[in-house]
Amino acid sequence: MSEATFFPQPQSVERQDSAFTLNAHTRIFASDSALGEMLARYLRPATGFGLPVHPLDAAVAADAQNAILLLPAASEADAAESYTLTVDSARVELSAAGRQGFLHGMQTLRQLLPPPILASERQAAVDWTLPGIRIGDAPAFGWRGLHLDVGRHLFPVAFIKKFIDMLAFYKFNTFHWHLTEDQGWRIEIKKYPKLTEIGGYRAETVISRAWDTYDGKPYGGFYSQGEVREVVAYAEERGITVMPEIELPGHAVAALTAYPELGCVGAGYEVRRTWGIAEDIFCAGNDEVFTFLKDVLSEVLALFPSEYIHIGGDEAPKARWQQCPACQARIQAEGLADENELQSWFIRQIESWLNERGRKLVGWDEILEGGLAPNATVMSWRGSDGGIAAANAGHDVIMTPNTYCYLDYYQSEDTESEPPAIPAILPLRQVWQYVVVPPAIAEDKRRHILGGQGNIWTEYMPNSDHVEYMTFPRAIAIADVLWHHPAERDYEALLARLRRHLPRLERMGVNYRPLDD
Ligand code: ACM
Ligand code: ZN
Repeated sequence: MSEATFFPQPQSVERQDSAFTLNAHTRIFASDSALGEMLARYLRPATGFGLPVHPLDAAVAADAQNAILLLPAASEADAAESYTLTVDSARVELSAAGRQGFLHGMQTLRQLLPPPILASERQAAVDWTLPGIRIGDAPAFGWRGLHLDVGRHLFPVAFIKKFIDMLAFYKFNTFHWHLTEDQGWRIEIKKYPKLTEIGGYRAETVISRAWDTYDGKPYGGFYSQGEVREVVAYAEERGITVMPEIELPGHAVAALTAYPELGCVGAGYEVRRTWGIAEDIFCAGNDEVFTFLKDVLSEVLALFPSEYIHIGGDEAPKARWQQCPACQARIQAEGLADENELQSWFIRQIESWLNERGRKLVGWDEILEGGLAPNATVMSWRGSDGGIAAANAGHDVIMTPNTYCYLDYYQSEDTESEPPAIPAILPLRQVWQYVVVPPAIAEDKRRHILGGQGNIWTEYMPNSDHVEYMTFPRAIAIADVLWHHPAERDYEALLARLRRHLPRLERMGVNYRPLDD
């Protein structure tokens, strides 16, 4: 029988002195047949059982033996993601008030079964026995995300789906899809085809650890709107919201290369071949820029039902705006003090447009500079200070401080034995120490911390194997912190749990970084 090791750790687990064995005659009874089918689909590949799904008839369900029951729980205000799971010798009962609670409970059930359950092909001669157990569970934080940059390198839709499967497995609920960058624009926009025709490709790429040397290979690609819809639907089915990010006013060189009239200088742009921060950003004095951005965002809103839309806002140098007559005229006309206030004005234009359409703006913590837009949610990445300031000012915050959440950093001090990465170090041990709500936030403002997420910037990750290597196991520690936020962080205990758990990642074909001995 599998030992019960969970990631993330449920809020309460009681072992019962019994066990349930799944076999070809097990039946699923579900109040929602789509959820029952989802569970049957999760169990089918490895077991080979085509478990039938029956409607939840109260009389039958009351005495059903050898059954898995999906039971509606009474709805409670904060219970959208909570569930209870009990296993005894006769049946498995999964009860939840909402669809997400059921989905989380199914992931717990998959973790309770022996590791071969995660294989994508039929496993012969496995005893599919679950230990008797009673689990009551709910997340500590409502925002549990992972971000993926597809601007620097992009990955096939099949990998994006695998990544979403992994998010669901670890009970994340948000996939932050970073879709536009200086080095490539990755989402098809019908009204502006050059964004992907021109902005989707760079001439070559700088070689890691060999600055000023380039690989000479054209690189690029993008996701069609059909592919984006497919990803959003796939995620939705698994309880994951996809939040798109369209960067403005900075990290926009690919867009400027396609439509140079949108920059202050108006010519001479090239999709970047190297990393870092670009001086060229969208012009804030040109009304056409806002027409363009609203047109782009109109297509984005039609593709992504996410209430939250990320507009970037980070790393936007002000040198071009200082020299640009149109930007200076805007500062005069709007009575702004300086270029920081011009950035704030820029973000406010976009925020009010989004708010009118029922969406909420999220931006990196630079959007605090020059004054925060009235309803903005801040994603605090340069440490926690931006998040503290925003929460204390009454704004919602998503915590993603680079010191705990940047999964593009090296995983050990011994950087020579690791693949090239951003020159900073974030070992698993440190990720695991992450405390999401800083004490410097006033008690009555702590509710503004919605949760947190791990960020995966891909300058140094040319393929999906490498993304997996950087993501796991650190993202598992983030999942644990965001879901159950333990008061005590015993690193040795985490390692012991991970050693038991990692064979499951192997079953799912994930190229994780092995633990240090
Ligand atoms: C960021 O890492 N530039 C948000
Ligand atoms: Zn300008």
